[in-house]
Amino acid sequence: MAVPLLDLRAQHAAIKDDVMRAMMGVVDAQTFILGEVVGRLEREVAELCHTRYAVGCASGTDALLLALRALDIGRGDEVITTPFTFFATAGTIHNVGATPVFVDIDPVTFNIDPEQVAAALTPRTRATIPVDLFGQMAEIERVATAAPGLPLIEDAAQSIGARRSVDGEWRMAGEAATVGTLSFFPSKNLGGYGDGGMMVTQDERLYTRLLRLRMHGGSKTYYHEEVGYNSRLDALQAAVLGAKLPHLAQWSAGRRDHAAYYTSAFRELAPQVQPPVITPANESIFNQYTIRAERRDALQAHLKARGIGSAIYYPLPLHLQPCFAYLGYRSGQLPESERAAREVLSLPVYPELTRAQQDEVIGAVREFYGV
Ligand SMILES: Cc1ncc(COP(=O)(O)O)c(C=O)c1O
Repeated sequence: MAVPLLDLRAQHAAIKDDVMRAMMGVVDAQTFILGEVVGRLEREVAELCHTRYAVGCASGTDALLLALRALDIGRGDEVITTPFTFFATAGTIHNVGATPVFVDIDPVTFNIDPEQVAAALTPRTRATIPVDLFGQMAEIERVATAAPGLPLIEDAAQSIGARRSVDGEWRMAGEAATVGTLSFFPSKNLGGYGDGGMMVTQDERLYTRLLRLRMHGGSKTYYHEEVGYNSRLDALQAAVLGAKLPHLAQWSAGRRDHAAYYTSAFRELAPQVQPPVITPANESIFNQYTIRAERRDALQAHLKARGIGSAIYYPLPLHLQPCFAYLGYRSGQLPESERAAREVLSLPVYPELTRAQQDEVIGAVREFYGV
């Protein structure tokens, strides 16, 4: 039985009528840029994230870029982040002219280690970007304490709807950040039928600035206070996302259920297989189910030979990427990120996965380790 890493067609089949109706509504109205469909989605996402404001934009990458620009971060500034993330987290820091400062991860959660944030502060540090990797929120309150008074951009591209208990209260991904950034890339828990992103914030001043930056830096048509971008959430994408949003909680619960099933099955494979650890303070949305595996590459080849999809997120930490050689990091400098890059493997965890498919994955992993 083939088990793909992700089966977007299965999800589309289940919601096709609703999605097509919503898309045709936009086509019939011929209002393709912003408009009511985008506005409604922004209100719904703000409600989900417990924020006062949400601003749609063209991608999760642009959400980071606009957030950095809205905070006036640029040349000569340093931004502390994790190297164990998708490229965009640091690529956008570079692209606004600032310097990414990489600190290592907590090996338990794969998220940025707040103690190392404190150690990396300099007079030029202007912000931090913790990433909620694989759907589990970073320890944002500890990052905030480690970098007091500095804006915190929460890269929540992989964590929409995730929550974390802070001082006994649930905080949604994006809620406690200066700006939280979301991605609607098709493989995300809330995925569009193309690119899309959003920024969430509690701050009215930043909200106004983000609205302006996504429209070429002008609050009035053809008048520009600053140079911004053409970065809007497409109305057709907003229609798709609006049709999908009511299902998000149930889809993420399905992912959590699959994760629990894998984790109990993999316990007997320790130490060769280490299931992901979700700390008691967190409720993950499992955008990925990522194990650490002994002989990881051979395991992946074994799964592939049996028709089982898997992926390595991420094979080379950002501090060692050729494009960041100018920053001067060397191999071995951020050992936990480098070890994670050697050991991680993400397995199929999409909501429509069946138990029979999961058993196939589990059986193939057990076969590989001879258990
Ligand atoms: C952690 C992280 N940050 C940023 C992004 C960028 O989002 P997008 O692909 O929508 O530009 C992604 C997703 O691809 C991501 O996983």
